[in-house]
Amino acid sequence: MSLISRRAAPVVGSVAVPGDKSISHRALILGACAVGETRVAGLLEADDVLRTAAAMEALGARVDRHGDGDWRLWGRGVGGLAEPARVLDMGNSGTGARLLMGLLASHPFTAFLTGDESLCRRPMARVMTPLRQMGAAFVARSGDRLPLAVTGTAAPVPIAYTLPVASAQVKSAVLLAGLNAPGTTHVTEPAPTRDHTESMLRHFGAEVRVDERADGGRDVSVVGQPELTGGALAVPGDISSAAFPLVAALLVPGSRVTLTGVGVNPLRCGLIETLVDMGARVTLDNRRREAGEPVADITAEAGPLVGVEVPAARAPTMIDEYPVLAVAAACAKGTTRMTGVGELRVKESDRLAAVARGLTACGVTVEEGPDSLTVHGTGEAPAGDANIATDLDHRIAMAFLVLGAASARPVAIDDAGPIDTSFPGFAPLMNGLGCRLEPATP
Ligand code: S3P
Repeated sequence: MSLISRRAAPVVGSVAVPGDKSISHRALILGACAVGETRVAGLLEADDVLRTAAAMEALGARVDRHGDGDWRLWGRGVGGLAEPARVLDMGNSGTGARLLMGLLASHPFTAFLTGDESLCRRPMARVMTPLRQMGAAFVARSGDRLPLAVTGTAAPVPIAYTLPVASAQVKSAVLLAGLNAPGTTHVTEPAPTRDHTESMLRHFGAEVRVDERADGGRDVSVVGQPELTGGALAVPGDISSAAFPLVAALLVPGSRVTLTGVGVNPLRCGLIETLVDMGARVTLDNRRREAGEPVADITAEAGPLVGVEVPAARAPTMIDEYPVLAVAAACAKGTTRMTGVGELRVKESDRLAAVARGLTACGVTVEEGPDSLTVHGTGEAPAGDANIATDLDHRIAMAFLVLGAASARPVAIDDAGPIDTSFPGFAPLMNGLGCRLEPATP
């Protein structure tokens, strides 16, 4: 379905966004590897995560939904998953696919993985390389892409692996494979990436060690074959989802929005840092911890923004937020330059190209480099008046709907379907705050 976003009334109110996608995947995966019952509150019930839930069930875990976001799992213990009888379809989810490939690498059976058109064009070599070193075998389509078959090993080797790119998915895949290896598996990351896997492994009782390196990276290790024990955990709101109403509130004059119970892990907060550098009025209140993760209420108030230089080193802490940051930059006064963002080309779509194309269509001056994006804002509302191709990418869809709320003329997107992969109820939530998202009549 196509949606159109018209200039919004002030965006006002207090809302909770759905649960964190990264944490939800991990809760299901580790719950399936634990002994006893795991109770998850606030699980994100979006397509990406539901695919992981179905996969864990196909691998022999018991996975029950008891109510809204309230899920219970009975795990099989570390190394106890069973061969699935059918192909595991991970839909649009790169995280689901890569984390599962890691987990399956140290289980001695063959499983088949596939996904939608977007997932089947994404690179999988980045996880296959270390997992092969651990003893797993893969047969994949050309370019190391899905669909693929993974045959796990009965005798996994606990490796020491240095990530060539700062990727939490690759780090997590290796750590999950190491879970069923004898001895300690080490991963060195060139820059710190989201550490939800490490925190949750500890929460379930695994021995995880994290050491800061002099070069700014981190050494992470997990001791294999622990007994993971099921327990209760609460998933905080997803900061990557909160980013959309938050930026809408900053851009639409007269707005003030509070997003309650959002995960504010410092390795996820690069967008907030950048927006504050741009002059945004954003405050974090009521800070607390839930299941080892920091949580807060975030309030954003409209006001003028200025262009900034976004340091390349910040990229891993805001990798999913560049599309909506680019929208904020389009409404700011001055130039915003984002560097070290080549990874955006291998997300659900080529996000550098999609953002550059979309902003240009909305009348914004943009320069796209191989791994950079420069947005020239005038401080005035962009023209809008464009129809954006979302290319199976939920964050491109939501970012341009936010732009429509702040631009002179409406912005339409050709397909709102992908939004359900991460943010079910996005349009009603935004409209409840004062946005005007409506089905577009052809
Ligand atoms: C994720 C890691 C990031 C991010 C993705 C979720 C995760 O990917 O873009 O949406 O949950 O580990 P990379 O690790 O490939 O950067």
